[in-house]
Amino acid sequence: MSPKTDSSADVGWPWRSVALALILALAVAGLALTPPGSRVLAWIGETLSPRPAVGGPFSLVDHTGQRRTERDFAGRPMLLFFGFTHCPDVCPTTLASVGRWLASIGPEADRMATLFVTVDPDRDTPRVLAEYMQAFDPRIIGLSGTKDEVALMLKTFRAFARKTETGDFEHTAAVYLIGGDGRLLSLIEATQSDDIAISALQKALASDGG
Ligand code: NI
Repeated sequence: MSPKTDSSADVGWPWRSVALALILALAVAGLALTPPGSRVLAWIGETLSPRPAVGGPFSLVDHTGQRRTERDFAGRPMLLFFGFTHCPDVCPTTLASVGRWLASIGPEADRMATLFVTVDPDRDTPRVLAEYMQAFDPRIIGLSGTKDEVALMLKTFRAFARKTETGDFEHTAAVYLIGGDGRLLSLIEATQSDDIAISALQKALASDGG
C-alpha cells in the first residue's frame, strides 16, 4: 500500500495549517497595532535576530601616520563617515558640515572622536589626507590604510563604496553617530539641518556622562 494515499487523517492538514498560519498572521498583525504589542514584537525581533552589528574593531592609519584602532577611541562618542579627497562635492560639504557642528558645540565636542575614512586608499595616503584635512576642523581625523583594511572598515560599518569608470567613488555619505558604548545612535545625512545634527551630537555627548 502507498503510505500517502490511505490516510484520511491527513486530508485536512494543509487546510488546517493554512488556517493556523492565517490566525497567527492576524494575531501578530493585531498585536502590532497596539503599543504594548509593538514593543513585544520589537523585543521578539531583537531576540530572534542578531543585533544589527554596525561598527566594531578596526585598524587604520591616521593622517599623521599613526596606526589607530577602535581602542584609541573607546568610551568616547564617535562621528564617523566615509569619503575621498577627490570627491567634488559631497565629501567636502560633509566635512564642512561636521566642522560647523563641532564648532557650534565648542570645546565639549573635543571628546567626540570624529573620523573621516577614505574609500580611496590608493590616492588618499596619510600624506595626502594630512594636506586635505587642513581645510577642515582640526578635530577631524583622516584615516587611510591598505585596500584590505579599508574594505574591512566598510564591511564593519555596513557601508558601501564603488569605484566608477572615472576613477572616483560612489559611497555611503551618511555620518554615523555612535555612542560611547559603541552602539549606533543614528545616521545623520550631511544635508540634515545643523540644529538637528547638533542636538543629536549634544545628546550623545551628554548621555555619555562627560
Ligand atoms: Ni564623496
